Amino acid sequence: MSVEKTAVPALLFEEARSAEIVGSSFAATPEPRLQVLLTKLVEHLHAYVKDVRLTPDEWEHAIQFLTATGQKCTDVRQEFILLSDTLGISMLVESLAGEGGPELTEATVEGPFHMVTSPDREHGADLNVAGEPGEPLLVTGRVTDETGNPVVGAKVDVWHANADGFYDVQKPDEMGVGDLRAMFTTDSDGRFWFRSIVPAPYPIPTDGPVGSMLRATGRHEFRPAHVHFQVGAAGLRTLTTHIFVAGSPHITSDAVFGVKESLIFDFATIDDAARAAEVGLPNPFRHVDFPVVLHREDATRDATEGAGG
Ligand code: BEZ
Ligand code: FE
Repeated sequence: MSVEKTAVPALLFEEARSAEIVGSSFAATPEPRLQVLLTKLVEHLHAYVKDVRLTPDEWEHAIQFLTATGQKCTDVRQEFILLSDTLGISMLVESLAGEGGPELTEATVEGPFHMVTSPDREHGADLNVAGEPGEPLLVTGRVTDETGNPVVGAKVDVWHANADGFYDVQKPDEMGVGDLRAMFTTDSDGRFWFRSIVPAPYPIPTDGPVGSMLRATGRHEFRPAHVHFQVGAAGLRTLTTHIFVAGSPHITSDAVFGVKESLIFDFATIDDAARAAEVGLPNPFRHVDFPVVLHREDATRDATEGAGG
């Protein structure tokens, strides 16, 4: 009795059809999206290798680089995210995920320093708990949805570096964890406000493979001065973003490509003794106003997210 043989696709290697041959090995992948991701990954990687005519030495170097990147990762250090950031992938993924109109506040990278829970603070609080030197800063803001309605009770999480470019978690003994961080709840008109000091630009970590890449390519490691925000409320898409200080060094060459035109704000110098006394700051001081416009989630999107889509 003859046994019918199951047809097995031929996977014999041919340089000219390499991507097609490897791609066909994923033909039986049960999850369609995974099949697309892997097939396209192979297609683009093979095209890249052919385009640059990658040599065995270069490929070995790349593998060593990726190995070192993994080995640099710990519970508090994510070198792969830093690599993604410095190659502009984090921003591209963020950008493609954004949907909604131009009236919405734009998102940018979260960064690695959102690693502790911000302390709840009252409106008007001074985030400079450690009393560090720096230019006094007043930040005011209002959270609305895209139709202009105030978002009452929104959570506004804020964190930023000091005037030397350090976060509390980098100098816990001097600054104390929780310094230059706060969680506010917007008032009955969607507003929040606080006092602090103007942050400085700072370098991303350069003691790992990403630092080697920056040096090998003549790139600098600095981020322009910024204040991080994460704003969320029920029924609205959580926004992770920063505001950047207009005129800051490196504003047009952020090491992680996080700057968008709409996120550059004038931190104006205010010379007004009465206003300074009113808000409890020395005169003169800097002021920035940040209107935050969030996207109202529709039922379809909620359902998709709930299904893990
Ligand atoms: C930050 O702004 O905290 C940051 C973002 C990306 C990489 C490194 C730092
Ligand atoms: Fe930062």
